[in-house]
Amino acid sequence: MSTTLVNILVRRRPGKSLTRLCLPCFRKLVSYKHTTPCFVTTPIFYVNAGPHIGHLYTVLLADAHARWNRLSGRNVLLSTGTDEHGLKIQQAASRSERSPPDYCDEVSQQFKVLFQSANIQYDDFIRTTQDRHRRAVQRFWEQLESNGHIYRGSYEGWYSVSDEAFLTSEEVKDLTTPDGSTAKIYVWLDALINYLTVAGYPDNLTTWPPTSQIIGKDILKFHAVYWPAFLMASDLSPPTRLLCHSHWLVDGRKMSKSLGNVVDPSDRMERYSVDGLRYFLLKEGTPHSDGNYTDRKVTETINSGLVNTLGNLLHRCTSTSINHAQVFPPLDPQAMDTHFSAEEIHMYSTLKTLPDSVDEHYQTLTIYKALDQLISVLHQANAMFDHHKPWQLAKQMDQSEHLNTVLHVAMETLRTCGILMQPVIPNMADQLLTKLGIGTDRRTIDSIYEDFVKDKAVKLGTDTSVLLKRVK
Ligand code: ME8
Ligand code: MG
Repeated sequence: MSTTLVNILVRRRPGKSLTRLCLPCFRKLVSYKHTTPCFVTTPIFYVNAGPHIGHLYTVLLADAHARWNRLSGRNVLLSTGTDEHGLKIQQAASRSERSPPDYCDEVSQQFKVLFQSANIQYDDFIRTTQDRHRRAVQRFWEQLESNGHIYRGSYEGWYSVSDEAFLTSEEVKDLTTPDGSTAKIYVWLDALINYLTVAGYPDNLTTWPPTSQIIGKDILKFHAVYWPAFLMASDLSPPTRLLCHSHWLVDGRKMSKSLGNVVDPSDRMERYSVDGLRYFLLKEGTPHSDGNYTDRKVTETINSGLVNTLGNLLHRCTSTSINHAQVFPPLDPQAMDTHFSAEEIHMYSTLKTLPDSVDEHYQTLTIYKALDQLISVLHQANAMFDHHKPWQLAKQMDQSEHLNTVLHVAMETLRTCGILMQPVIPNMADQLLTKLGIGTDRRTIDSIYEDFVKDKAVKLGTDTSVLLKRVK
């Protein structure tokens, strides 16, 4: 990155020495925009039972990643959906005493409704029973055949219906009779092709290959081995990147429909709010090691991060007892020099480096690290607030410059962190930014580098409700 930026800088500003230009100045010259389009996918989920928080977690990672890229100015296509073929579904339908189509409609709809209520901004919801998908699978099969990759043979082995895969004899513990169905397209080939269907295959393959395919570790083999092989066999590029995450456990065991230990996401969204649950899952979920879900942990995480840190800072600097004029005041550099410590000035100046450091985390799905960093900055701002005792300054007529500087620094921290947290907590971030008087057109990553308040203070919004009530 730096080489390109430096060259542009040298050409445009021949007189300036590079060392005197900080990151924000680079950014002013070269917009934050990434230009390459972004095609993000989630697995398509089996409809053999309704969704649980494990499914929601994958889709949330994808949603936060997609939202981040949209805020950075990229074109994004985010797809999700349901997998409605295979023995597992057939068996679930017959257990429910419904016809497979009715059964699939109902459970697929549950996933769709959950994703909508969790505020997932998906662009496409694919179902493998759709016509467009049948045609894609048909065409893909013909392509494999014409490339000489299909031959007739017989294969025998232990087939696991719950995994929809053959297992090696070592993997087989409980034996169910193997299924000897013939001349059917393997459900995983059918399922993987969904990513092509949403991209417009076969008639009009517009966006290819996917740039971020997000999956759980249970289906890595299918995505990292079979999928690229299938694509290469039909002359198509494999995905640019697979992002694979660990599992949510309950009492140390994988949460799964088959084990029956699932946590219901709709119920938890009602209890903790949509953004509360989104925040918890993305703050506590780490892609590299399994997380244990407990309601106690959810309560603690939400209260300490969203209520005591983010909500508290907003509440303090917008309360009428401290902020009489109800404004976001401009910076007074002289007052800052007089009243602020070197560390506090440093904290303020590093706000503009936050977009770059969280960018990496949103891109690689270590979103918890982005949140750790932002919450720690908000902590520091709360400490700064305590240190200056603005409730005392507010009572002294001759302290208004000092008071306004405290308010400015606190609000600038909230503005920056609020913009950067939009992908995780879109509703709360909206409420926060609206309260600070920041219009919807000034919430992109680029807008962080602009001075939001220049010479004139900006009026605060009038909504006085708290961001989030303490969870009990
Ligand atoms: O495998 N923790 O569908 P599926 C975190 N249809 N994520 C979890 C999870 C947990 N406990 N449980 C499930 C299938 N997931 C196929 C996919 S794709 C072409 C076909 C998430 O309903 C995670 O993303 O079993 C996992 O990979 C996926 O749900 C499996 O969903
Ligand atoms: Mg599964």
